Amino acid sequence: MKTFRLTLLPGDGIGPKVMDAALPVMSELGNRYDVECELNTELIGGSSYEEHGVPVTHDTLQVCKESDAVLLGAIGGPQWENLPHEKKPEAALLKLRDSLGLYSNLRPAKVYGALVEASPLKRGVVAGTDVMVVRELTGGIYFGSPRGMDEERGWNTLAYSRPEVERIARIAFELAHKRRNSVTSVHKANVLESSQFWKDVVHEVHRDYPEVSLNDMYVDNAAMQLVSDPGQFDVILTQNMFGDILSDITATISGSLGMLPSASVGDRHALYEPVHGSAPDIAGQNSANPIGMVNSVAMMFAYSFHMKEAAEELETAIEETLAAGYATADIASSNSNLVSTSEMGELIVKSLRRSDETSKTKTSMEQ
Ligand code: IPM
Ligand code: MN
Repeated sequence: MKTFRLTLLPGDGIGPKVMDAALPVMSELGNRYDVECELNTELIGGSSYEEHGVPVTHDTLQVCKESDAVLLGAIGGPQWENLPHEKKPEAALLKLRDSLGLYSNLRPAKVYGALVEASPLKRGVVAGTDVMVVRELTGGIYFGSPRGMDEERGWNTLAYSRPEVERIARIAFELAHKRRNSVTSVHKANVLESSQFWKDVVHEVHRDYPEVSLNDMYVDNAAMQLVSDPGQFDVILTQNMFGDILSDITATISGSLGMLPSASVGDRHALYEPVHGSAPDIAGQNSANPIGMVNSVAMMFAYSFHMKEAAEELETAIEETLAAGYATADIASSNSNLVSTSEMGELIVKSLRRSDETSKTKTSMEQ
């Protein structure tokens, strides 16, 4: 039996609900693979602000630092939009990334066979798309100084150091090696020195990965290519702000923002969260899609627990549930079997149990 300490940060809006739906899935998978998770739940974002006057407390950061992984639901809502910068729910996320050293953000987007029609792109353009955005997460313009604003000006700084580029480039090449051996380095080296530097350092790191092919692409072209021929991409490696923007495109063309997970990983810590936001308009309705959260649990098994097989089993259970026609409102079509957030979680648990039965039958037949 392996034990992991997890911090749960359900957050705001639909965050707590999708978290609730994903937890039974996590414990079912844990049972199957002899994993026990010790859970600690803390406030984050607007709900922390209401209770403590700050979007994340020092104690919560400390608890996160002491755990093996952090699972986050979602943060934000219109009632906190006009707070000063450092009190906004978003500030909590930036603080977590920074203080846990979560420099690599992995955002996979793949088009599920059962959901191709949900994509805003034509079937022929989008079918089969399977891309991983590797976004640098603790540097670049998000964190550069000087920064500020006064009555006459607003300013930020975009700079990257060699170690910052090297470590994220290595993550991208290693990942590509386990996928389809292709990295596209996205930058704006025709205009920005910081991008020319990025480009050069990525090429230097590439020498250690001769089996992986490396292409350079300007970010404006990358945005265009993503909506015209997304199938050409395997791993997209890019800086913090470009990754923020491009990963919204990859998420949207996959047809199902509600399905997608993400991992933010550093040398010592990791945080997993669905790509979707807090969706205040549907909070409290038990209608949100929990699959982004469940897929985030799968990523946690793969990257933090090093249990790739468990992660794959969970992905299969999700695909089977979708293929059986079950859908939450965001992905439903006229002939879907419409289910709630919690029902979707229960269906995935059932599908895992069935696969358990199947493999038991197989083993007893082999004996
Ligand atoms: C994201 C979000 C965040 C970002 C915000 C909420 C700070 O858009 O995770 O993509 O810009 O990184
Ligand atoms: Mn974003």
